[in-house]
Amino acid sequence: MVKRQFPNPKDVFEYLQLKRPEFGKEARLKRALTIYDLRDIAKRRTPKAAFDYTDGAAEGELSILRARQAFEDIEFHPDILRPAEDVDTSTEILGGPSSMPFGIAPTGFTRLMQTEGEVAGAGAAGAAGIPFTLSTLGTTSIEDVKAANPNGRNWFQLYVLRDREVSYGLVKRAAAAGFDTLHFTVDTPVAGNRMRDTRNGFSIPPALSVKTILDALPRPWWWFDFLTTPKLEFASLSSTGGTVGDLIGQAMDPTISYDDLATIREMWPGKIVIKGVQAAAVRGDAPFAPFAPLAPVAPDDAPVAPAFARVVPDFAARGVRTGRAAVAASAASACAAATGTRRVSCVT
Ligand SMILES: Cc1cc2nc3c(=O)[nH]c(=O)nc-3n(C[C@H](O)[C@H](O)[C@H](O)COP(=O)(O)O)c2cc1C
Repeated sequence: MVKRQFPNPKDVFEYLQLKRPEFGKEARLKRALTIYDLRDIAKRRTPKAAFDYTDGAAEGELSILRARQAFEDIEFHPDILRPAEDVDTSTEILGGPSSMPFGIAPTGFTRLMQTEGEVAGAGAAGAAGIPFTLSTLGTTSIEDVKAANPNGRNWFQLYVLRDREVSYGLVKRAAAAGFDTLHFTVDTPVAGNRMRDTRNGFSIPPALSVKTILDALPRPWWWFDFLTTPKLEFASLSSTGGTVGDLIGQAMDPTISYDDLATIREMWPGKIVIKGVQAAAVRGDAPFAPFAPLAPVAPDDAPVAPAFARVVPDFAARGVRTGRAAVAASAASACAAATGTRRVSCVT
Protein backbone atom coordinates (compact mmCIF):
# COMPACT_ATOMS: atom_id res chain seq x y z
CA MET A 1 0.00 0.00 0.00
CA VAL A 2 1.17 3.53 -0.75
CA LYS A 3 2.15 5.52 2.33
CA ARG A 4 0.17 8.76 2.63
CA GLN A 5 1.53 12.06 3.93
CA PHE A 6 0.38 15.63 4.40
CA PRO A 7 1.11 17.78 1.35
CA ASN A 8 4.34 19.65 1.80
CA PRO A 9 3.78 23.37 1.04
CA LYS A 10 7.29 23.60 -0.43
CA ASP A 11 6.51 20.81 -2.93
CA VAL A 12 3.19 22.42 -3.82
CA PHE A 13 4.97 25.68 -4.48
CA GLU A 14 7.48 23.88 -6.74
CA TYR A 15 4.70 22.27 -8.75
CA LEU A 16 2.93 25.58 -9.26
CA GLN A 17 4.00 27.05 -12.55
CA LEU A 18 1.89 30.10 -13.01
CA LYS A 19 2.50 31.54 -16.45
CA ARG A 20 1.29 34.87 -17.67
CA PRO A 21 -1.52 34.22 -20.15
CA GLU A 22 -0.59 35.07 -23.73
CA PHE A 23 -2.98 36.81 -26.09
CA GLY A 24 -2.88 37.97 -29.69
CA LYS A 25 -2.34 36.43 -33.08
CA GLU A 26 1.02 34.83 -32.38
CA ALA A 27 -0.11 33.20 -29.16
CA ARG A 28 -3.23 31.95 -30.85
CA LEU A 29 -1.28 30.42 -33.72
CA LYS A 30 1.25 28.91 -31.35
CA ARG A 31 -1.55 27.04 -29.63
CA ALA A 32 -2.79 25.63 -32.95
CA LEU A 33 -1.07 22.28 -33.30
CA THR A 34 -3.00 20.96 -36.27
CA ILE A 35 -4.84 22.18 -39.34
CA TYR A 36 -8.02 21.29 -37.47
CA ASP A 37 -7.02 23.66 -34.63
CA LEU A 38 -6.58 26.41 -37.23
CA ARG A 39 -10.00 25.56 -38.59
CA ASP A 40 -11.49 25.99 -35.10
CA ILE A 41 -9.89 29.43 -34.84
CA ALA A 42 -11.21 30.36 -38.28
CA LYS A 43 -14.69 29.22 -37.30
CA ARG A 44 -14.66 31.42 -34.21
CA ARG A 45 -13.35 34.50 -35.98
CA THR A 46 -14.94 34.39 -39.45
CA PRO A 47 -18.57 35.11 -40.35
CA LYS A 48 -20.53 31.93 -40.94
CA ALA A 49 -21.08 32.48 -44.67
CA ALA A 50 -17.39 33.14 -45.33
CA PHE A 51 -16.32 30.21 -43.16
CA ASP A 52 -18.78 27.85 -44.85
CA TYR A 53 -17.69 28.98 -48.32
CA THR A 54 -14.15 28.00 -47.37
CA ASP A 55 -14.92 24.87 -45.42
CA GLY A 56 -17.84 23.51 -47.43
CA ALA A 57 -18.14 21.42 -50.58
CA ALA A 58 -20.86 20.32 -52.97
CA GLU A 59 -23.92 18.20 -52.23
CA GLY A 60 -23.43 15.96 -49.19
CA GLU A 61 -19.69 16.83 -49.02
CA LEU A 62 -18.96 13.11 -49.28
CA SER A 63 -16.01 13.04 -51.62
CA ILE A 64 -13.94 15.33 -49.44
CA LEU A 65 -14.71 13.18 -46.40
CA ARG A 66 -13.74 10.08 -48.33
CA ALA A 67 -10.51 11.62 -49.55
CA ARG A 68 -9.57 12.53 -46.01
CA GLN A 69 -10.58 9.11 -44.73
CA ALA A 70 -8.46 7.42 -47.41
CA PHE A 71 -5.38 9.04 -45.91
CA GLU A 72 -6.45 8.30 -42.36
CA ASP A 73 -6.93 4.64 -43.21
CA ILE A 74 -3.31 4.25 -44.20
CA GLU A 75 -1.26 2.43 -41.63
CA PHE A 76 2.50 2.84 -41.41
CA HIS A 77 4.94 0.00 -40.94
CA PRO A 78 8.03 1.87 -39.84
CA ASP A 79 11.47 0.45 -40.31
CA ILE A 80 13.52 0.27 -37.11
CA LEU A 81 17.10 0.87 -36.01
CA ARG A 82 17.85 3.05 -38.98
CA PRO A 83 19.79 6.21 -38.12
CA ALA A 84 17.55 9.20 -38.70
CA GLU A 85 19.57 12.14 -37.50
CA ASP A 86 19.66 13.89 -40.88
CA VAL A 87 16.06 14.18 -41.97
CA ASP A 88 15.78 16.14 -45.18
CA THR A 89 12.26 17.02 -46.30
CA SER A 90 13.36 18.85 -49.43
CA THR A 91 12.36 17.40 -52.74
CA GLU A 92 11.63 18.13 -56.37
CA ILE A 93 8.07 18.89 -57.44
CA LEU A 94 7.27 19.25 -61.12
CA GLY A 95 10.84 19.90 -62.08
CA GLY A 96 11.65 22.44 -59.38
CA PRO A 97 12.81 22.46 -55.77
CA SER A 98 10.61 22.55 -52.70
CA SER A 99 11.77 22.48 -49.10
CA MET A 100 8.88 20.18 -48.24
CA PRO A 101 6.76 17.79 -50.29
CA PHE A 102 3.78 20.10 -50.59
CA GLY A 103 2.67 23.48 -51.85
CA ILE A 104 -0.22 25.88 -51.40
CA ALA A 105 -3.16 25.12 -53.70
CA PRO A 106 -5.21 27.82 -55.40
CA THR A 107 -8.26 29.22 -53.64
CA GLY A 108 -10.68 31.64 -55.22
CA PHE A 109 -11.73 34.78 -53.39
CA THR A 110 -8.87 34.30 -50.96
CA ARG A 111 -9.05 37.64 -49.15
CA LEU A 112 -12.54 36.72 -48.00
CA MET A 113 -10.94 34.28 -45.58
CA GLN A 114 -8.20 36.53 -44.33
CA THR A 115 -7.68 40.06 -45.43
CA GLU A 116 -4.02 39.68 -46.42
CA GLY A 117 -5.00 36.82 -48.71
CA GLU A 118 -2.55 35.80 -51.41
CA VAL A 119 0.12 38.27 -50.32
CA ALA A 120 0.35 36.48 -46.96
CA GLY A 121 0.16 33.05 -48.61
CA ALA A 122 2.77 33.77 -51.25
CA GLY A 123 5.07 35.44 -48.72
CA ALA A 124 4.77 32.51 -46.32
CA ALA A 125 5.34 30.01 -49.14
CA GLY A 126 8.42 31.94 -50.23
CA ALA A 127 9.77 32.05 -46.67
CA ALA A 128 9.16 28.33 -46.24
CA GLY A 129 10.56 27.43 -49.66
CA ILE A 130 7.42 25.79 -51.01
CA PRO A 131 5.40 26.71 -54.14
CA PHE A 132 2.38 29.02 -54.02
CA THR A 133 -0.54 28.81 -56.46
CA LEU A 134 -2.61 31.84 -57.46
CA SER A 135 -6.19 31.20 -58.61
CA THR A 136 -7.80 32.75 -61.69
CA LEU A 137 -10.44 33.79 -59.14
CA GLY A 138 -7.79 35.26 -56.87
CA THR A 139 -8.06 38.57 -55.11
CA THR A 140 -4.46 39.66 -55.79
CA SER A 141 -2.90 40.27 -59.19
CA ILE A 142 -0.27 38.05 -60.76
CA GLU A 143 2.30 40.81 -60.45
CA ASP A 144 1.53 41.48 -56.77
CA VAL A 145 1.93 37.79 -55.98
CA LYS A 146 5.27 37.84 -57.74
CA ALA A 147 6.25 40.86 -55.64
CA ALA A 148 5.22 39.01 -52.45
CA ASN A 149 7.22 35.92 -53.45
CA PRO A 150 9.93 37.29 -55.75
CA ASN A 151 12.48 34.52 -55.37
CA GLY A 152 10.25 31.53 -54.68
CA ARG A 153 8.18 29.37 -56.98
CA ASN A 154 4.81 30.66 -58.06
CA TRP A 155 2.22 28.63 -59.93
CA PHE A 156 -0.88 29.90 -61.71
CA GLN A 157 -4.24 28.14 -61.79
CA LEU A 158 -6.24 28.65 -64.95
CA TYR A 159 -9.96 28.53 -65.52
CA VAL A 160 -10.87 28.86 -69.17
CA LEU A 161 -13.41 31.65 -69.18
CA ARG A 162 -16.14 32.31 -71.71
CA ASP A 163 -14.06 35.25 -72.75
CA ARG A 164 -11.05 33.21 -73.80
CA GLU A 165 -8.92 36.23 -74.50
CA VAL A 166 -9.07 37.08 -70.77
CA SER A 167 -7.78 33.59 -69.93
CA TYR A 168 -5.06 33.74 -72.56
CA GLY A 169 -4.03 37.16 -71.28
CA LEU A 170 -3.64 35.73 -67.77
CA VAL A 171 -1.58 32.81 -69.09
CA LYS A 172 0.78 35.22 -70.84
CA ARG A 173 1.07 37.50 -67.81
CA ALA A 174 1.83 34.57 -65.52
CA ALA A 175 4.52 33.35 -67.90
CA ALA A 176 5.99 36.85 -68.14
CA ALA A 177 6.06 37.09 -64.33
CA GLY A 178 8.10 33.87 -64.17
CA PHE A 179 5.40 31.54 -62.80
CA ASP A 180 6.79 28.10 -63.62
CA THR A 181 3.74 25.82 -63.59
CA LEU A 182 0.19 26.17 -64.84
CA HIS A 183 -2.65 24.27 -63.19
CA PHE A 184 -5.41 23.90 -65.75
CA THR A 185 -8.59 23.20 -63.78
CA VAL A 186 -10.94 20.94 -65.71
CA ASP A 187 -13.57 19.98 -63.16
CA THR A 188 -15.69 23.13 -63.06
CA PRO A 189 -17.50 23.48 -66.39
CA VAL A 190 -20.57 24.07 -64.25
CA ALA A 191 -20.87 24.98 -60.59
CA GLY A 192 -21.31 22.33 -57.92
CA ASN A 193 -24.38 22.42 -55.72
CA ARG A 194 -22.88 24.04 -52.66
CA MET A 195 -25.72 23.83 -50.22
CA ARG A 196 -24.10 25.61 -47.28
CA ASP A 197 -23.69 28.68 -49.52
CA THR A 198 -27.34 28.54 -50.56
CA ARG A 199 -28.54 28.13 -46.99
CA ASN A 200 -26.37 31.04 -45.83
CA GLY A 201 -27.44 33.27 -48.71
CA PHE A 202 -23.73 33.67 -49.48
CA SER A 203 -22.93 36.09 -52.27
CA ILE A 204 -19.91 37.71 -53.90
CA PRO A 205 -19.32 40.35 -52.70
CA PRO A 206 -20.70 39.55 -49.23
CA ALA A 207 -23.96 41.34 -48.55
CA LEU A 208 -24.97 42.99 -45.29
CA SER A 209 -28.36 41.76 -44.15
CA VAL A 210 -29.95 41.53 -40.71
CA LYS A 211 -28.69 37.95 -40.52
CA THR A 212 -25.09 38.81 -41.47
CA ILE A 213 -25.06 41.80 -39.13
CA LEU A 214 -26.16 39.64 -36.20
CA ASP A 215 -23.54 37.08 -37.16
CA ALA A 216 -20.95 39.89 -37.34
CA LEU A 217 -21.36 40.96 -33.73
CA PRO A 218 -19.12 38.33 -32.15
CA ARG A 219 -16.59 38.61 -35.00
CA PRO A 220 -15.65 42.28 -35.04
CA TRP A 221 -12.05 41.84 -36.24
CA TRP A 222 -13.01 40.20 -39.49
CA TRP A 223 -15.41 43.05 -40.21
CA PHE A 224 -12.85 45.62 -39.15
CA ASP A 225 -10.41 44.12 -41.67
CA PHE A 226 -13.11 43.87 -44.34
CA LEU A 227 -14.19 47.48 -44.01
CA THR A 228 -10.76 49.10 -43.56
CA THR A 229 -8.77 47.40 -46.35
CA PRO A 230 -9.03 47.62 -50.17
CA LYS A 231 -12.33 46.43 -51.57
CA LEU A 232 -12.71 42.67 -51.74
CA GLU A 233 -12.90 41.85 -55.44
CA PHE A 234 -11.42 39.59 -58.07
CA ALA A 235 -8.08 40.79 -59.34
CA SER A 236 -8.43 39.33 -62.82
CA LEU A 237 -12.09 39.40 -63.75
CA SER A 238 -15.12 41.53 -63.16
CA SER A 239 -18.08 40.06 -61.35
CA THR A 240 -21.65 41.19 -61.61
CA GLY A 241 -22.29 39.79 -58.14
CA GLY A 242 -24.35 36.82 -57.02
CA THR A 243 -23.76 33.37 -55.64
CA VAL A 244 -20.67 31.29 -56.38
CA GLY A 245 -22.87 29.31 -58.79
CA ASP A 246 -23.97 32.49 -60.58
CA LEU A 247 -20.39 33.62 -60.89
CA ILE A 248 -19.17 30.30 -62.26
CA GLY A 249 -22.14 30.19 -64.63
CA GLN A 250 -21.35 33.67 -65.94
CA ALA A 251 -17.59 33.35 -66.12
CA MET A 252 -16.61 29.75 -66.88
CA ASP A 253 -16.88 28.25 -70.30
CA PRO A 254 -18.87 25.01 -69.99
CA THR A 255 -17.64 23.87 -73.42
CA ILE A 256 -13.96 23.46 -72.51
CA SER A 257 -12.45 20.42 -74.16
CA TYR A 258 -9.19 18.73 -75.09
CA ASP A 259 -8.77 21.34 -77.81
CA ASP A 260 -8.40 23.97 -75.08
CA LEU A 261 -5.75 21.86 -73.46
CA ALA A 262 -3.83 21.76 -76.74
CA THR A 263 -4.14 25.54 -77.15
CA ILE A 264 -2.97 26.20 -73.61
CA ARG A 265 -0.14 23.68 -74.00
CA GLU A 266 1.15 25.64 -76.95
CA MET A 267 0.86 28.92 -75.13
CA TRP A 268 2.51 27.93 -71.85
CA PRO A 269 6.28 27.45 -71.77
CA GLY A 270 6.44 25.57 -68.43
CA LYS A 271 4.86 22.55 -66.81
CA ILE A 272 1.11 22.01 -66.94
CA VAL A 273 -0.90 20.17 -64.33
CA ILE A 274 -4.40 19.03 -65.24
CA LYS A 275 -6.30 19.77 -62.06
CA GLY A 276 -9.51 18.00 -61.25
CA VAL A 277 -9.13 14.68 -63.07
CA GLN A 278 -11.52 12.38 -61.25
CA ALA A 279 -12.64 9.79 -63.74
CA ALA A 280 -11.01 6.92 -65.51
CA ALA A 281 -12.15 7.78 -69.01
CA VAL A 282 -9.43 9.85 -70.57
CA ARG A 283 -8.96 10.14 -74.29
CA GLY A 284 -6.00 8.04 -75.33
CA ASP A 285 -4.37 10.68 -77.50
CA ALA A 286 -4.64 13.45 -74.93
CA PRO A 287 -1.32 15.18 -74.30
CA PHE A 288 -1.38 13.85 -70.76
CA ALA A 289 -2.76 10.92 -68.86
CA PRO A 290 -3.88 10.63 -65.30
CA PHE A 291 -2.48 7.62 -63.56
CA ALA A 292 -5.57 6.39 -61.87
CA PRO A 293 -9.26 6.84 -61.43
CA LEU A 294 -8.38 8.26 -58.04
CA ALA A 295 -6.04 10.87 -59.40
CA PRO A 296 -7.48 14.29 -58.87
CA VAL A 297 -4.55 15.83 -60.66
CA ALA A 298 -2.06 14.59 -63.20
CA PRO A 299 1.07 16.18 -64.50
CA ASP A 300 1.22 16.73 -68.23
CA ASP A 301 4.43 14.83 -68.64
CA ALA A 302 2.98 11.57 -67.41
CA PRO A 303 3.24 8.70 -69.87
CA VAL A 304 0.15 8.56 -72.06
CA ALA A 305 -0.28 4.81 -71.94
CA PRO A 306 -1.14 2.72 -70.21
CA ALA A 307 -3.28 5.24 -68.43
CA PHE A 308 -3.79 3.12 -65.38
CA ALA A 309 -0.41 1.54 -64.98
CA ARG A 310 -0.23 2.85 -61.45
CA VAL A 311 -2.90 3.06 -58.84
CA VAL A 312 -1.53 6.16 -57.20
CA PRO A 313 -1.74 9.65 -58.60
CA ASP A 314 1.47 11.44 -59.33
CA PHE A 315 0.07 14.50 -57.71
CA ALA A 316 -2.54 14.25 -55.00
CA ALA A 317 -4.54 17.31 -54.19
CA ARG A 318 -7.31 16.47 -51.86
CA GLY A 319 -7.87 15.45 -48.30
CA VAL A 320 -4.30 15.96 -47.08
CA ARG A 321 -4.54 17.59 -43.66
CA THR A 322 -1.57 16.27 -41.77
CA GLY A 323 2.12 15.62 -42.17
CA ARG A 324 1.20 11.98 -41.76
CA ALA A 325 -1.04 12.18 -44.83
CA ALA A 326 1.71 13.92 -46.77
CA VAL A 327 4.09 11.13 -45.84
CA ALA A 328 1.47 8.57 -46.81
CA ALA A 329 1.02 10.14 -50.23
CA SER A 330 4.76 10.24 -50.52
CA ALA A 331 5.23 6.65 -49.52
CA ALA A 332 2.57 5.68 -52.02
CA SER A 333 4.83 7.31 -54.61
CA ALA A 334 2.66 10.27 -55.32
CA CYS A 335 4.98 12.93 -56.64
CA ALA A 336 3.24 15.76 -54.88
CA ALA A 337 0.06 16.80 -53.18
CA ALA A 338 -1.32 20.32 -53.00
CA THR A 339 -3.07 22.06 -50.22
CA GLY A 340 -5.54 24.88 -50.27
CA THR A 341 -7.33 26.11 -47.18
CA ARG A 342 -6.31 23.42 -44.84
CA ARG A 343 -4.25 21.36 -47.15
CA VAL A 344 -0.89 20.06 -48.05
CA SER A 345 0.95 18.13 -50.82
CA CYS A 346 3.64 15.58 -51.19
CA VAL A 347 6.24 13.41 -53.01
CA THR A 348 8.37 10.50 -54.41
C1 LIG B 1 -12.28 28.04 -50.58
C2 LIG B 1 -11.71 27.27 -51.72
C3 LIG B 1 -11.54 27.88 -52.93
C4 LIG B 1 -10.99 27.16 -53.99
N1 LIG B 1 -10.79 27.79 -55.18
C5 LIG B 1 -10.22 27.12 -56.20
C6 LIG B 1 -9.96 27.79 -57.42
O1 LIG B 1 -10.22 28.98 -57.57
N2 LIG B 1 -9.41 27.06 -58.43
C7 LIG B 1 -9.09 25.75 -58.27
O2 LIG B 1 -8.59 25.14 -59.22
N3 LIG B 1 -9.31 25.10 -57.12
C8 LIG B 1 -9.86 25.75 -56.09
N4 LIG B 1 -10.08 25.11 -54.89
C9 LIG B 1 -9.66 23.71 -54.75
C10 LIG B 1 -8.28 23.65 -54.11
O3 LIG B 1 -7.30 24.22 -54.94
C11 LIG B 1 -7.85 22.22 -53.82
O4 LIG B 1 -7.77 21.45 -54.98
C12 LIG B 1 -8.78 21.50 -52.89
O5 LIG B 1 -9.30 22.35 -51.89
C13 LIG B 1 -7.93 20.42 -52.26
O6 LIG B 1 -8.64 19.73 -51.34
P1 LIG B 1 -8.43 19.93 -49.77
O7 LIG B 1 -9.18 21.15 -49.43
O8 LIG B 1 -8.98 18.68 -49.22
O9 LIG B 1 -6.96 20.02 -49.52
C14 LIG B 1 -10.62 25.80 -53.83
C15 LIG B 1 -10.82 25.20 -52.60
C16 LIG B 1 -11.36 25.90 -51.56
C17 LIG B 1 -11.56 25.20 -50.25
